[in-house]
Amino acid sequence: MRIRAKHSAALASALVIALAGAARAEPDLDAKLVINGDLEMTTIAPAPAHLEGALGDNVISGWHYRDAATRQMETDDFENPAMSAVDEALAAWDTVDGSEGKSCADCHGAIEEGMKGVTAVLPKVTEAGALWSAEDFINDCRTNRMGAEAWDWDKDPMKNMTAAIALQSRGMPVNVAIDGAAAPFWEQGKEMYYTRYGLLQLSCANCHEQNNGNYIRADHLSQGQINGFPVFRLKNDGLVSIHNRFAGCVRDTRAETFSKGGPEFHALELYVASRGNGLAVEGPSVRP
Ligand code: HEC
Ligand code: HEC
Repeated sequence: MRIRAKHSAALASALVIALAGAARAEPDLDAKLVINGDLEMTTIAPAPAHLEGALGDNVISGWHYRDAATRQMETDDFENPAMSAVDEALAAWDTVDGSEGKSCADCHGAIEEGMKGVTAVLPKVTEAGALWSAEDFINDCRTNRMGAEAWDWDKDPMKNMTAAIALQSRGMPVNVAIDGAAAPFWEQGKEMYYTRYGLLQLSCANCHEQNNGNYIRADHLSQGQINGFPVFRLKNDGLVSIHNRFAGCVRDTRAETFSKGGPEFHALELYVASRGNGLAVEGPSVRP
């Protein structure tokens, strides 16, 4: 069994190198992300201590790894294609829904005030001891406070709302708690991050830690940060949630993926978010 494991590890690294070919390119670290001409974003930050140097000195936003045209779209809200989704969510924010006759605004006030800083600390552990993402809080409000139907984790109304909420933290440093009640979830997420999945036997770390900066097919591998989520993917012409991106990456290892909104991806979300503690919240960002 040992030999087999070693063999598949060697196979996996051979695969990555083969896919990467000779192409390695440094991300453009001199580029500066300034949004709407005045909001300067922290896209490079000192690596959190818990990484113990695994990503070198700095953590880097995925923005730096994208081509100039894609990066440009994020510098101006008129060019950022995610903003029409945000507009839809702003309309939903003020709309009464459900048996209690309430809108989000009825309880939370203006989204700019009520949701300020919320995304920067998500996911977090609730008083009841569950690890919740933005989607869980939103559906809790919808079902238990508004008497409305839950939104599907991965459909537009939910993605639009998480984008609009993320926007209210834009520029603030990601700062998720990893100690206390969060610690066991964080440990679970970390364990997953270093577990090799699928036929290809690749872990998140194999690609995003050991090979960031390398090309895999046409993609410039980033550190796999989630400070820019939800992201607008040009390829999909729509928003992509954190758990959807995780599912895509797990599937790329040719493994059965975990469910969106399930306990595994919650734990992984916390761990991955913590790897970006200190980067600015950048959602909704733009990706190819
Ligand atoms: C009847 C009042 C009420 C309505 C309506 C309501 N919420 Fe809430 N919401 C709350 C309360 C109270 C909390 C705090 C719950 C907690 O901290 O456990 C909360 C928490 C949240 C949070 C987490 C905030 C944080 O600081 O972590 C989000 C996100 C949220 N609501 C979004 C929404 C959205 C989006 C809507 C509309 C679809 C909505 N809420 C409708 C009362 C409401
Ligand atoms: C086979 C290599 C590979 C593996 C393994 C892999 N990913 Fe990815 N991932 C990619 C590629 C390619 C992209 C798109 C380019 C980029 O942003 O790095 C990507 C993108 C991402 C992004 C989006 C980053 C951004 O800024 O938009 C996140 C988040 C992510 N991966 C997380 C993970 C997690 C968590 C795991 C482990 C469950 C994982 N990935 C495993 C190849 C991989």
